[in-house]
Amino acid sequence: MSDAHPVLRTFGRIKSRPIKPRQAALLDTLLPTIRPPAGPFDPRALMPEAAEVWLEIGFGGGEHMAAQAGLHPDTLIIGCEPFINGVASAVRHIDEAGLSNVRVHDGDARELMERLPDGCLDRAFVLFPDPWPKTRHHKRRIIQTETVAEFARLLKSGAPLRFASDVAHYVDWALEHITASPAFRWTAERADDWRAPPADHITTRYEEKRLGDCAPVFLDFVRT
Ligand SMILES: C[S@@+](CC[C@H](N)C(=O)[O-])C[C@H]1O[C@@H](n2cnc3c(N)ncnc32)[C@H](O)[C@@H]1O
Repeated sequence: MSDAHPVLRTFGRIKSRPIKPRQAALLDTLLPTIRPPAGPFDPRALMPEAAEVWLEIGFGGGEHMAAQAGLHPDTLIIGCEPFINGVASAVRHIDEAGLSNVRVHDGDARELMERLPDGCLDRAFVLFPDPWPKTRHHKRRIIQTETVAEFARLLKSGAPLRFASDVAHYVDWALEHITASPAFRWTAERADDWRAPPADHITTRYEEKRLGDCAPVFLDFVRT
């Protein structure tokens, strides 16, 4: 994502509503302490005792990220989200739950990913990404051949990658793009494996809105 080769924006907005004073205060105080360092970095150095490192792209209000972090205190979760109102909501969840195992990149996930070393991730989530339904906007979807290649570079062998969406065309798109890479295998064996929420899934705020054109679909892949 160098300035010489600007990449297309994958998010629709950066800021909309005014931010509540308490959240604004946390953006000033807590966020700088949980933001990953600038430049290339090894996530293990951020929490040396962590058993695993997970990445969530586009955490929205941060509900899934915070809940997973609470359930897995020995896992470091790095979340990425450029929408400042979402980041403000996430820092409130992190503060209220007293979570010390979350780091927040308040920007484009692709910019953070290119700063991470090969094979440093044990798991990744892309949950209900911006659907960009118009054909001319498909190139703005976060799932592209290049992002799949980055997941292949960053995820360890055997590491899971979860994609979820309630937009039928994006489900097909993700399946096509991710299985086109020999680095990923789709784990589904029967329809319920993609139709039913996985046992370890936590319902997201966007998922609850049911804005898509199909029931939520969950695609679990494994890095081969
Ligand atoms: C439709 S929302 C879903 C949010 C959340 N995952 C949920 O299910 O409630 C998609 C989110 O992805 C974020 N997003 C889009 N492009 C992104 C990128 N390149 N890096 C990180 N987040 C991104 C958007 O800002 C938006 O908040």
